[in-house]
Amino acid sequence: MEYLKINEKISLHRFGTPLKTGAVTLDLTGNDFSEKTEINHLNISYEQERINLVYNLKPEDRIFGLGETLGCFNKRGMKFRLFNSDDPVHTPEKESLYGTHCLFMVDGEESFGIFIDYPGEMILDIGFSKKNIFKISVSDNNFDLYIFKIDTLQELTRNYLHLCGTPYIPPAWAFGYQQSRWSYPDADSVNDIADHCRNLNIPCDAIFLDIDYMDNYKVFTVSDDKFPDFAKYVKKLKKAGFKLIPIIDPGVKIESGYSMYEEGKENNYFCKDNESNDFTAACWPGKIHFPDFLSPEVRLWWGNHHKEFLENGIEGFWIDMNEPSIFYAPSALSSYFEQVKEIESLEDPGFELFRLKWLSESLANHPDYYRSFFHNNEGIQKVTNESVHNLFGFKMAEATVEGFKKYLPGKRYFLVSRSSFSGQHRISAVWAGDNMSWWEHLIVHIRMLLSLGISGFFYSGSDVGGFGCNSSADLVIRWTQLGAFTPFFRNHSATGTRSQEPWAFDDDTLNIVRETIRTRYSLFPYIYSEFMRSVRDFHPFVSPLMMFFDSERVKGIEDQFMFGESLMITPVIERNAIGRYVHLPECNWLLWKSSKWHEHNCVIYKSGDYFIETGLEEIPVFMRENTLMIQAEPQNYIGETIITELFVTGLVTDEAVYEYYTDNGEDSKHKDGEFSTLTITVNAIDDSFDIKVKINENFEVPMDVNRLSFELYGSKKGVYKETITLTK
Ligand code: GLC
Repeated sequence: MEYLKINEKISLHRFGTPLKTGAVTLDLTGNDFSEKTEINHLNISYEQERINLVYNLKPEDRIFGLGETLGCFNKRGMKFRLFNSDDPVHTPEKESLYGTHCLFMVDGEESFGIFIDYPGEMILDIGFSKKNIFKISVSDNNFDLYIFKIDTLQELTRNYLHLCGTPYIPPAWAFGYQQSRWSYPDADSVNDIADHCRNLNIPCDAIFLDIDYMDNYKVFTVSDDKFPDFAKYVKKLKKAGFKLIPIIDPGVKIESGYSMYEEGKENNYFCKDNESNDFTAACWPGKIHFPDFLSPEVRLWWGNHHKEFLENGIEGFWIDMNEPSIFYAPSALSSYFEQVKEIESLEDPGFELFRLKWLSESLANHPDYYRSFFHNNEGIQKVTNESVHNLFGFKMAEATVEGFKKYLPGKRYFLVSRSSFSGQHRISAVWAGDNMSWWEHLIVHIRMLLSLGISGFFYSGSDVGGFGCNSSADLVIRWTQLGAFTPFFRNHSATGTRSQEPWAFDDDTLNIVRETIRTRYSLFPYIYSEFMRSVRDFHPFVSPLMMFFDSERVKGIEDQFMFGESLMITPVIERNAIGRYVHLPECNWLLWKSSKWHEHNCVIYKSGDYFIETGLEEIPVFMRENTLMIQAEPQNYIGETIITELFVTGLVTDEAVYEYYTDNGEDSKHKDGEFSTLTITVNAIDDSFDIKVKINENFEVPMDVNRLSFELYGSKKGVYKETITLTK
């Protein structure tokens, strides 16, 4: 094994000759590796093709990380198989989901972090089979293992991002509310959604197009019948403040005369089977071929095909089924049908019927499929999909980015992917895939979001209201209240399920959901300022309490989280609950219980544990002592009007400083200093407050705020209100 000390915090152990995944961006060329036979903390053993790494868990050890996985935030006691997989039933025992992010921290007496950069299967048994044994089994002898010498989770993320690059920043409008369903299949149904939003005063920035917008599920087509003049339609909606986000699936329908199919076949752009024929699988379009995204030439080809969409005004996509999902392989299907016939001929099928059921279930995503097709890795090396499986979604995202670079040069784009791999946080967001309209999935959503943040996915979210099953009014309310405090805020549901748009239930539900979404929009100045800072600081935007407070108690809290640096969100996630218990660590907190963005009930709490009564229409949010929260009048969509007034709320007993940040929200010029800030400093002095405001204005980004209305708590005299008008 080769060894390289990268810096005081990070060292690399290289096994064999690993394939370049693209996860790491730090340039390591020119460094001298030395030989080593041991790794700190881990025992190494070799087992045929696999390498096993074993860590002896101490009683107090906690394991945090692993990105998009199910189960608790502390992963101790669980087992995972990192092999990206389209599993639509997220029950607690499931070992694989859509993404692979093998980054975690062992938090104990001797803390450290590990990142394994390997694109094939890895099994992590974290004290599941044997209570005190954490066994990592890598299915190959070639991979990179990084060890982080760190004490805290924030150090883990910071050092990981130093290695793997800065998180993706979406356009500003992506912090608005987004409405989706499988499907709004045609212009009429999309119009209906847009009209409902505007007529009912529900802010919304984006409407998603699911697979039915296409002509027969053929990727890069738009059905003329459903959208007669798509280009004109995209523009019309944009004018009303809506972005349209089409879905793009990787499978190319096998159909003579279809240009994607013909081009792919002619140029050998598809993955091959054992006999070097184009590998055939099946998905929504029926029989398909997979583009070989591991080849740079194919990525360029795929990217170029976004031309028409992007020239027509589309600014974002959601990419799906990119694990890749395989409904069946034709040979497996034939053998299944033969068995059906056999069973049909039996006089009494009895138990055989069960076998048939299992057999039909095993048709989708069978492990054999992934062994039987090949990639031409970076145009130089033939590899099975199985050995690089977890890269497929990442490389598809890279292919999409080729399109953005070419046809939307210099612009920020919107890209959310279902499948992902380490390093993908630089170029796309992820959503949590096919969750269910189950109350149990609210906590799953929070834990996953927190773990994803650690791996650099700062902008992510899950389907609000739940994707599968029928949702109910109270679940949509509570989920919207949670979603309003997550970066990617999209209501999405599956075909055949009950509608769950804000207006789909009754007037009370509509009113509560509308006010929740308006609260989200009122917080846009805070959300955007905090998000941009989180990226600058390499500190997750949504983060566990332990990234701010240090106590044993706090490390065990998984249902409260920080949203930026000022707000702690304590969502109600149980049906019929009249409130919830909260833990308030270390300092004083201001409970900001809002049911309307500007109407709230503020109460000061000392640190401790409380039961907070919460009506169905209320969102309990706590403001940290000596921080500030800023709001503005909600708009119908982000950027509809210029923000000129900020409403500032805070509990200040000493000093609070807040930096409101603004830029054009649509490109990367902020990196060259094109942004403006307004710094608010509040000092508590003699039962009153001294307020100072300082503007740092870049001439390209006018600072339009000219009025600040304060509502400050912490003085013995009660709430303090002041409005300041700024003159330039
Ligand atoms: C997958 C996606 C889901 C989408 C559906 C149809 O299940 O995860 O979001 O609606 O496919 O495209």
